[in-house]
Amino acid sequence: MSTNEHTEIQEQIEKIKELKKSRNAIILAHYYTRPEVQQVADYVGDSLQLARAAQGTDADVILFAGVHFMGETAKVLSPDKTVVIPDMEAGCSLADSCPAEDFARFVAAHPNHTVISYVNTSVEVKALTDIVCTSGNALEVVESVPADQPIIFGPDRNLGSYIQSRTGRKNMVIWDGACHVHEQFSLEGILALKREHPDAKILVHPECKQQIVTVADHVGSTAALLDYAKKSSAQEFIVVTEPGIIFKMQESCPDKKFIPAPPTDTTCACNDCAYMKLITLPKIINTLTSLDNEITLSDEVIASAKKPILRMLEIK
Ligand code: 13P
Ligand code: SF4
Repeated sequence: MSTNEHTEIQEQIEKIKELKKSRNAIILAHYYTRPEVQQVADYVGDSLQLARAAQGTDADVILFAGVHFMGETAKVLSPDKTVVIPDMEAGCSLADSCPAEDFARFVAAHPNHTVISYVNTSVEVKALTDIVCTSGNALEVVESVPADQPIIFGPDRNLGSYIQSRTGRKNMVIWDGACHVHEQFSLEGILALKREHPDAKILVHPECKQQIVTVADHVGSTAALLDYAKKSSAQEFIVVTEPGIIFKMQESCPDKKFIPAPPTDTTCACNDCAYMKLITLPKIINTLTSLDNEITLSDEVIASAKKPILRMLEIK
């Protein structure tokens, strides 16, 4: 980064600090956002940690530096607060792979199933759900349901298969959705890196395909992968999730080496989540100034989506 760019970022960060004070605002940022966005956040976390932070804040304004469904979850948990996101186009391919009307038909076709939905869904899908989960608590949420009770798990087929393999549950119907970012990782590329760095631990997010999960030393949410890297005595890690997490890993463990896993198509940066990267400091300034891009939800949808989210938060 050039000196000019560095100065510009510092000026933007100072401006955001002033705006936060005058708006009594808090910034919650996901680990996949740009480093400078994480730097200006009051709290950086995985989906579960950010949901809890949104629930617990006494700020008037929550600026969610993340994707749309995360802002919706914050609004459901804090309906009296103004919740804004810096770019309304910041969506999620996984949430998009599960339209609410189709999911409603799927649920109707499987009566008497407990519906468990990953947090990466629209608020309308959550309203059709019995218990929400994140990658940080999916195991505990599924295990909270009696073993003989059939389950619908949506929308991530990879997380669903992983949880099924961990729990041994046969009676789980899984929606056929996926994240385009996590499906891009190359098994061959990861194994080639492992040959070059034989002592490196392979850290994998459960949204990756099963064949990649099977070579992992540790599988978990972004926060769980960060925690593993901090506690591990290993010095090198191959990171198989969106590379934004490496900023915090490197900050927490300056002497360790974090190697981003390659995508199948090595000519593109397809393991960057283009949606998360839409969040920039200038957009945060605009949003805190105008309070545009507010997440607004009807009281009915808030009431229906709140129950399964609170059930999740009670479990873990
Ligand atoms: P985490 O809950 O692990 O942070 O994951 C969120 C996400 O969008 C992964 O792609
Ligand atoms: Fe959605 Fe995938 Fe981006 Fe996560 S990485 S926000 S699942 S598109």
